[in-house]
Amino acid sequence: MILYIPDDAAALSVGADEIAERFAVLGNERNVDLIIVRNGSRGMLWLEPMVELETEKGRLAFAPVTLDAVDSLFDAMQAGSDHPLGLGLTEEIPYFKNQERLTFARVGLTDPLDLNAYEQHGGLAGLKKALALMPADICAEVTESGLRGRGGAGFPAGIKWKTVLDQSVEQKYICANADEGDSGTFADRMLMEGDPFCLIEGMIIAGIATGATKGYVYIRSEYPHAISKMNRAIDVLTRANWLGNDIQGSGKSFTLSIRKGAGAYICGEESSMLNSIEGKRGTVRSKPPIPAIVGLFGKPTIVNNILTLASVPIILANGADFYKNYGMGRSTGTQPFQLAGNIKQGGLVEKAFGVTIRELIEDFGGGTLSGKPFRTAQLGGPLGAYVSEDMLDLPMDYESLAQSQAMLGHGGITVFDSTVDMADMARFAFEFCQVESCGKCTPCRVGAVRGRETVEKILRGENVANNIALVEDLCEIMTDGSLCAMGGLTPMPVLSALRLFPQDFDRTPSQPA
Ligand code: NAI
Ligand code: SF4
Repeated sequence: MILYIPDDAAALSVGADEIAERFAVLGNERNVDLIIVRNGSRGMLWLEPMVELETEKGRLAFAPVTLDAVDSLFDAMQAGSDHPLGLGLTEEIPYFKNQERLTFARVGLTDPLDLNAYEQHGGLAGLKKALALMPADICAEVTESGLRGRGGAGFPAGIKWKTVLDQSVEQKYICANADEGDSGTFADRMLMEGDPFCLIEGMIIAGIATGATKGYVYIRSEYPHAISKMNRAIDVLTRANWLGNDIQGSGKSFTLSIRKGAGAYICGEESSMLNSIEGKRGTVRSKPPIPAIVGLFGKPTIVNNILTLASVPIILANGADFYKNYGMGRSTGTQPFQLAGNIKQGGLVEKAFGVTIRELIEDFGGGTLSGKPFRTAQLGGPLGAYVSEDMLDLPMDYESLAQSQAMLGHGGITVFDSTVDMADMARFAFEFCQVESCGKCTPCRVGAVRGRETVEKILRGENVANNIALVEDLCEIMTDGSLCAMGGLTPMPVLSALRLFPQDFDRTPSQPA
């Protein structure tokens, strides 16, 4: 009997280890030839812990499994009979079946540290191709695919790579940004825990494409399981000679180290991250120069998000044309969306760009968890815009969202029901900026505090019209005058709340007690 029980942090947080242990005990007691594979999560987080049984027809899913249910489940599995937790074939569950999984193709399918399984499911094919190509041809293939930065800014990855390739210095670096600070996002974590070889393969390809021989993965300290998985994956690939000097006898070298963050949101901004890797305080550097020219330790550096780098192996393996057949307009390929907040079926959905917000929230997400009417969703993390119900048919692609004064960010969607107070959410945006600001520039450092105070006056009903005008003025200054996206984007949630939900700001003065 072969069982798959995830060891992804989301599954562990709801008891996956205890469930795996109980299955192992039962297997022993009953003398069953039992193999338990600890896979990544399939991304249907409301169903974790999900246990899958390998059968001739495919994997059968049982979820969410509680410790109390394990004995009866084991009986049913042995007898080949139905069980109340049975969901049928995993791949037929609509939430999973209706996705287009390119970057996450192997996540949840294999043991993340089994290199043979990785190769059997298409792994290393991209790297093998890259080893036979000239660096400029690899950059051209990535440019041709249309792949854009998945951290949020959407800058064309191939153009960034070419910029680094064109720098004639000996030492260059590849830095993978796994700070993933946006609330409600978890795709980077899931990828590192569920298919770490894929990220590393993408980084080695980036190294070969640009002439960089050293890479760092900067992972937030809140991700201990990802850090451990990545370290073990590096060991496996080093022993198999896919990392190190003279990779597979090609004469190419690439080595990789993990750096742990220390809990600051701003270290997700690329130049703060570079300072942090260098052992300095994580403050933002002035740009220009961009990291592609003067980056880590002053050398040309690629800084890419995890999802950007993990998209590269399949582009090299299947070709740019294959990849750009997915998506719409200038947003090619797929995006791993992350459904969070007040939503029935939270989790990861990888879909081609162009899927609508409504499809994601209603068809995949099943609407609000509370059952109360939907009111808004914040797209792209805490610095992203709120959308109203009449915007739900907008396609999720960079350009359509920008036209509607919203952004995709890192693909997070946080849902709120009718009980949300949007004026309070505007206050929260300023408060978040106040807490997370690195303090280097005045519009953000001071603006966030003044913004919070002014919204608090609005909440108390003090001089509402004047204070709203003040907030709008302040937002303009923060947008135009901040050094980085932290202060520059904080106005986005504030202004979208004001624009779409003005009634929530229409406060009457509170009565003295
Ligand atoms: P940016 O637009 O300044 O730059 C985007 C990327 O392109 C950077 O890596 C930059 O160095 C590079 N670049 C720009 N011009 C280039 C050129 N000519 N050649 C080569 N490379 C070039 O955006 P920034 O400030 O790096 O990021 C802002 C975005 O970050 C926002 O749009 C937001 O969506 C996102 N964000 C993501 C968060 C997360 O947790 N993933 C958190 C906060 C913001
Ligand atoms: Fe620092 Fe805020 Fe200025 Fe960014 S905008 S550099 S976080 S003070």
